[in-house]
Amino acid sequence: MKRVEQPNAGNQAMVHALAKIEVAVARTLAEAADAEETYHRVLAEIGTALGWEVGAVWEVSAVDDLCCVGIWQASPPETLEFRSLTERVTFKCGEGLPGRVWATGKPAWIVDIVEDANFPRAHAAVRAGLRAAFCFPIQSPRGIVGTMEFFAREPQEPNGALLGSMAVLGNLIGQFVVRRRAEHAAHRRQALTGAILRAALDAIITMDQEGRIVEFNPAAERIFGYTSDEVAGHDMAELIVPPSLRPGHRKGLMRYLETGQSAYLDRRVELTAMRADRSEFPVELAITRIDLPGPPTFTGFIRDITDLKHAEAELKASRARLVEIAATERRRLERNLHDGVQQFLNALSLKLRLMATRVADGPDVVGPLLTEAQAELATAVEALRELARGIHPAALTEEGLGRALAALADRCPVDVSLIEVPTQRLPETLEVAAYYVVAEGLTNIAKYAEADHATVSVTVGQKAMTIEVADDGCGGADVTKGSGLRGLADRVEALGGGFIVDSSRGAGTRLRAEIPTS
Ligand SMILES: Nc1ncnc2c1ncn2[C@@H]1O[C@H](COP(=O)(O)OP(=O)(O)O)[C@@H](O)[C@H]1O
Ligand SMILES: [Mg+2]
Repeated sequence: MKRVEQPNAGNQAMVHALAKIEVAVARTLAEAADAEETYHRVLAEIGTALGWEVGAVWEVSAVDDLCCVGIWQASPPETLEFRSLTERVTFKCGEGLPGRVWATGKPAWIVDIVEDANFPRAHAAVRAGLRAAFCFPIQSPRGIVGTMEFFAREPQEPNGALLGSMAVLGNLIGQFVVRRRAEHAAHRRQALTGAILRAALDAIITMDQEGRIVEFNPAAERIFGYTSDEVAGHDMAELIVPPSLRPGHRKGLMRYLETGQSAYLDRRVELTAMRADRSEFPVELAITRIDLPGPPTFTGFIRDITDLKHAEAELKASRARLVEIAATERRRLERNLHDGVQQFLNALSLKLRLMATRVADGPDVVGPLLTEAQAELATAVEALRELARGIHPAALTEEGLGRALAALADRCPVDVSLIEVPTQRLPETLEVAAYYVVAEGLTNIAKYAEADHATVSVTVGQKAMTIEVADDGCGGADVTKGSGLRGLADRVEALGGGFIVDSSRGAGTRLRAEIPTS
């Protein structure tokens, strides 16, 4: 093996050629081509000018070995096997020609591959007619990022001027690699940020220290009704902050710029925002300062909470209505007790007192009074029973929904078909809800529908129980007109279900409630 680390100086022509190569390579690296194209041109420039046959460039990979990332040859035919081997093989530090340059950080020269002990690709190289080789490191300020190697057809003595020149080129190429990697990383980060901005469900708006919009994502376009082109560079407060809140917003920004203090940064706050059509709506907002040198910029995440607020208000109203229904129900009981049962019992008490004074008059007098008293007591009991039915149907608790619905249908003055009712027992909340939907539905039919016929069906599926009460009457049922249907809707919605009334004039009425069973 004849490998010389400090080769001799070359002749005049060589020095001239090397100078030309350095200029050409520097120009190629300065031009913004992609990595593959740049490597190919650099290999061709060096190889052609030196009259060498094959050149390859290696980069240190993520798993810390050298991989060939570009290859060039002067005249194609018999080097194919060597080329494909070079493209396939990887080298650890110290291994083969590229690995040994990586290990030492210095250029290396092989006079004749046949005689070199550390050249794993020797057979293929010889079959390709390649004998001499040199290789130099691609150096970045942070260390070696790769190597570049060249092969010639004849054994060649080392050339010091050539290797010196290649060391210079190795530094230039190293700067190129580092720059390209930085660009690549920046590009990836940009693509990632772009994807996040595009996919976000919340509005993401970025503003500079003067409050001008510099970024407005698609969700912001959707929520506020502006395109990002329309708002870019405009004062954010003018566009999306309601006029009444603008002075506060500006003061807050000023205070932050002067003191670095803010009541809003990095917290979730609820505020009012304004759309392009000047309508105002509630939002949840989190603002953060972007950690970059220079004047501060801020990014805000804004969530439209209109629906949430609406649902909260609905829930509150529905709770209030349920409380009101209970109070009304209590008043009704009080009134019924007072007007009904109490009257009968008072009358009975009077009658008994009268009887007590007449006992001496004998059975002829007391007998009829006793019969009257009996009738009054029966009426009172009937009134009580009537009342109890309104509070909680005894049949429901004792005999289940199917029987209770049959009893409701029996009592209804309109002809009712029970199309389907559950035969099995269900959780109490479901049975009670179904009972009230049918009871209110049939009461309404008797009171308003002028119907010939009504149908009731309660079906229990895997996920939900469906209750339907329909009539062939005059239609025109309206949830907003009374309290009964509204109360049903509240009851059903409180169980996570849905309630709809389908009733156009002249076409009958259909109530449909769907309540989840689990
Ligand atoms: N089956 C029906 N057919 C026709 N009109 C109906 C029917 N059900 C309800 N309505 C109408 O819808 C209104 C609201 O019903 P509801 O909420 O039960 O109130 P109410 O407490 O008056 O019974 C009723 O006042 C009535 O005018
Ligand atoms: Mg009603």
